[in-house]
Amino acid sequence: MSDDSRPAPSGARTAAVIPAAGRGVRLGPGAPKALRTLNGTPMLIHAVRAMAASRGVRLVVVVAPPDGAAEVKTLLDSHALPERTDFVVVPGGDSRQESVRLGLDALPPGIDIVLVHDAARPLVPVDTVDAVIEAVRDGAPAVVPALPLADTVKQVEPAAVPGGPEPVVATPERARLRAVQTPQGFDHATLVRAHETVTDNVTDDASMVEQLGLPVVVVPGHEEAFKVTRPLDLVLAEAVLARRRLNDGF
Ligand code: C5P
Repeated sequence: MSDDSRPAPSGARTAAVIPAAGRGVRLGPGAPKALRTLNGTPMLIHAVRAMAASRGVRLVVVVAPPDGAAEVKTLLDSHALPERTDFVVVPGGDSRQESVRLGLDALPPGIDIVLVHDAARPLVPVDTVDAVIEAVRDGAPAVVPALPLADTVKQVEPAAVPGGPEPVVATPERARLRAVQTPQGFDHATLVRAHETVTDNVTDDASMVEQLGLPVVVVPGHEEAFKVTRPLDLVLAEAVLARRRLNDGF
């Protein structure tokens, strides 16, 4: 939980970019995913608060659905957010990558460290955010929080027809695999260069830095930083919030 007595993790100037322009079709019909509520508060607001909870984060840039920037701005204005943090809303693009790039374009000069955090991970604890910032400050150009896998993973030849049998191609050694979460943390100049250089479609920002040939390191993630993707995840997220409320003595 946020603790205002804790020192800022560094003197470096850190901003967080939250891509929230996806429609979240896997959750089923309804509002864009980031605007779905968890215990009455939009997922996006939880995600914004999770970034602003870190005293290292001075600015949060929210990348809104292209036609929804005004709505998202109104949403931020109508919820309590820490006063020490600035908030900016920009319209997003067709892909997550483009949305992140548009968020980077909105950063003012003087930002040293950038976090990129999915709006779909609303419950990441502040200790995880701080650990990512700390590792970038200690010299890693890119840092990802990640967890070991519970399931064994198979690489398959995808079926031509959805739901059809899929031949297994390989079984990577589970102990060497990690499930990657966000916020991912970057040296600002490195992430900008990655976005200028890498044009392949990627599912996370760190892989763009890998493609530049630069080191990317993993720090421990957290089970509460899971991604809200399917309907059952909404149930789990509300259960986590209920447990936090009990622990906080509300
Ligand atoms: O689709 P996926 O779950 O991978 O999306 C991850 C994050 O990227 C979500 O927070 C989503 O809102 C965001 N996104 C975006 N712009 C897009 C597509 C996804 O900001 N065009």
